[in-house]
Amino acid sequence: MLSSISFPALNTQSITKTPTSKLPMFLSSCNNKLKTVKATLDMDLFLEAEQVKVDHVPSCLKVRATVTVKVSNQVSMMKIPWLYYSQNDMKPDEEKGVGFQLVSTQLDPSTKKPKVSKECVSEWWKCSSRKAIGTGCFSFEVELEIDAEFGEPGAILVRNNCDKELYLETISVDGFFHFACNSWIQPAHINKQKRIFFSNKISLYISLIEEGGVGDEALVAEDGTLGFHEIVSATELKAEINLAYLPTQTPNGLKYLRAKELKNKRGDGKGQRLPSDRIYDYDTYNDLGNPDKGAKYTRPTLGGEINPHPRRCRTGRPAAITDVTTEIPVNTGIASTYVPRDEALEGTRRNDILNGIWKGMLHNIPPILATFYNKNDVSRDLTKFAGLYRNVPQVEMSLNTHGVSKFLDIRGKIEEVFKFEIPKNMSWNATSYVQDDELGRQTLAGMNPVSLERLKVYPPVSKLDPSIYGPSESALKEEHIICHLNGMSVQQALDENKLFILDYHDIYLPFLERINSQEDRKSYATRTIFFLMTTGTLKPIAIELSLPPIDTNIPSKQVLTPPVDATTSWLWKLGKSHVCSNDNGVHQLIHHWLRVHACMEPFIIATHRHLSSLHPIFKLLSLHMKHAIVTSAVARESLISAEGIIETCFSPGKYSMEMVCAAYRDWWRFDLEGLPADLIRRGMAVPDETKSHGLRLLIEDYPYANDGLLIWSAIQELVHTYVNHYYPDENTVIFDIELQSWYTEAINLGHTDLHEANWWPKLTSPDNLIEILTILIWVSSAQHAALNFGQYHYGGYVPNRPPLMRKLIPQQHDLEYASFIADPQGYFLASLPSLLISTKYMAIIDMISAHSHEEEYLGEMKDVYIRWPCEPKIIEAFCRFSMEVKNIESEINRRNVDPRLRNRCGAGVPPYELLIPTSEPGVTGRGVPKSITM
Ligand SMILES: [Fe+2]
Repeated sequence: MLSSISFPALNTQSITKTPTSKLPMFLSSCNNKLKTVKATLDMDLFLEAEQVKVDHVPSCLKVRATVTVKVSNQVSMMKIPWLYYSQNDMKPDEEKGVGFQLVSTQLDPSTKKPKVSKECVSEWWKCSSRKAIGTGCFSFEVELEIDAEFGEPGAILVRNNCDKELYLETISVDGFFHFACNSWIQPAHINKQKRIFFSNKISLYISLIEEGGVGDEALVAEDGTLGFHEIVSATELKAEINLAYLPTQTPNGLKYLRAKELKNKRGDGKGQRLPSDRIYDYDTYNDLGNPDKGAKYTRPTLGGEINPHPRRCRTGRPAAITDVTTEIPVNTGIASTYVPRDEALEGTRRNDILNGIWKGMLHNIPPILATFYNKNDVSRDLTKFAGLYRNVPQVEMSLNTHGVSKFLDIRGKIEEVFKFEIPKNMSWNATSYVQDDELGRQTLAGMNPVSLERLKVYPPVSKLDPSIYGPSESALKEEHIICHLNGMSVQQALDENKLFILDYHDIYLPFLERINSQEDRKSYATRTIFFLMTTGTLKPIAIELSLPPIDTNIPSKQVLTPPVDATTSWLWKLGKSHVCSNDNGVHQLIHHWLRVHACMEPFIIATHRHLSSLHPIFKLLSLHMKHAIVTSAVARESLISAEGIIETCFSPGKYSMEMVCAAYRDWWRFDLEGLPADLIRRGMAVPDETKSHGLRLLIEDYPYANDGLLIWSAIQELVHTYVNHYYPDENTVIFDIELQSWYTEAINLGHTDLHEANWWPKLTSPDNLIEILTILIWVSSAQHAALNFGQYHYGGYVPNRPPLMRKLIPQQHDLEYASFIADPQGYFLASLPSLLISTKYMAIIDMISAHSHEEEYLGEMKDVYIRWPCEPKIIEAFCRFSMEVKNIESEINRRNVDPRLRNRCGAGVPPYELLIPTSEPGVTGRGVPKSITM
């Protein structure tokens, strides 16, 4: 560690922080003839110096920069700008090549403007120094001229005079100044503005005196001054300085560029965004429908008083002809919606997604053919579902029995292409419906472990307006559950925290009339009561199924209890399937889409608009923002759009996003998005300072909460160290103009529909900032992983967890009751989604449950060394975090084989792996990426 290096010869006097100490080293590298350069060094801040005097320097110095670029772009996005610019816009006589200009950290004393070097233009592809360093990657050298009074370079301006965009990875100036660019540079004929990159580190070579030796390089004299006198002996050390500045610490020469770069990224809020742009702005979700295609495709705008919703990244596409408030859809292929250029899907990640799409399309071919041959899309036996998977033991290949084999031999290796992997969290010995113990277990360790609440009163009470939605009283009575409470009274069970509930009454009921008016959609608003057994597992003991009241003579609510005979056994199975369908919708729409994807996007947009890349909080947050904006754009194209996957596959259908808006308006709160606050809100934990994490869980074996709290605390500790390093007191937070603008805008513009809520945390202290950042990082990493990457392995067998139901449960006065009694399994199967809907759903959850080959997982250090190359305290904090993440992985593995923990270990019980930090690529059901990558 750099902090452990000692410098016995250095002066220990305190000095003013100034980066000018780097100048002597920099100049000495340019010109070995430099002699009497002096500086005073501090013991602790050994890289800082306060006095630099250059007695004699040449009038002009040449410095060499090594540039790394990437030219091969598998996406061919570079061609897209041609759609918008004609060849005539080019100036054939203009000088080609890429231009570079260094910018000093100092202002020109005479003009008071930034000092900028003369532009050096390189036709790099002709350079003799050009080297291939990987597929499509090259490095080359350019020579830049600066005058002797230039000072320390703090930024570099880049202009691309070539025909096509160029990906600039890094620029290293004489080995001292490093610019980690990692950005696409558009041709000047598309964007005339020069790109600005700030140096992110400086490397210094310090020579320390040793007795008895001889040398002629830089030295530190006994009086603590640094010089270039002849020396006795030297030990050379390389040290590096990371450049992260709060706004007030910005060197004078960079202030203008810092503000300009942010202004460029904010744009002017006008016009259509081009694929080559890198502008971050807000807009409503007015692009989900396509009214020009007909009323069937009309959808309300999300965002605003009627349907409050977080904002998205603005694209500025033209309005529809028939509705000027709606943007026309893109419909030109996956990921063709505008996202800022550097957010676009690239390379391996894009290929992984395209492969996933192809795989899904192929998986849909057998059911399409089967449906073609069998017009009745109702599954009459479970082998049809079983036949969708590879290598299903003891299951007949049902599709061949329906004539598909005449066209398609799907045996053998070809089967791999057309069939799904068996979800690993299911057993083929299991019945087709979810079993009682598994229903309870999955509320604690499944793909939706964040809905369960402790029941505080029984029967539960609705918060809906009774004048609109009917009486708020539940149909649940004491007699429904009393015999399942192990001899306790209901009040005793409540008092001893033994009763829990999945309560989907209030979120579904207002939409049920419209949901059930859709073809092949029939839902209830369900409530499921669970009893906590002495084994620590949950047992479902009652299900309430509510419909909107229609006729006062017909009850709108019914209650199911565990079966006592064959008929009630089938009714109970149907009831559980409706519960799973409700749960599936809430998981996907509210917990996954709203709370993670939609609610994080405004913070990401605000980060790019208000936090400079020099800002320490940008450096931290940008680790956790990669790929989120493009993921959201892809979702708007094909998942949450009109007739998209969500509407097609989930019970709420075309009303799905309106349900999201209701949850955002009535339920979402930023301050309760952190794990401890969420657990307390749901009554799953109570504050208890004697316990680790300051909480006592009311269900001790709650795998999501237990593993999540380990990660939450590790993130919190890292953020605590980080924030306190840069923000020593309240004033530093309050007077950080970029930070305040970031937070204010994320609320006022990004979450404008809720901006007046009084629960937004204030940003007036380092502790506030720690809370806000911990929530953002938690939601983007572990919370998303827990909700996203288990979808296929928990939901990939549709009869077990259907995303929609097509029939209500028959009651004795219903005409269908007789057919149910005659063939209950047939009724059950006819209630499930069709094979085609099922495979569409399976294909999409298979795709979004997959990790890319380029995934970056929590605790990985790669980016840390790039961003904070010489911040010993920060690197040390990340090292501790990384070690803690490794420990967490070991602890989770240990828990998963502990037989006392029956919600994650036991016969046929899958381990809870969703919060294990690392993973291989693919659908692994584990792995915590740093950001929202899918
Ligand atoms: Fe996701």
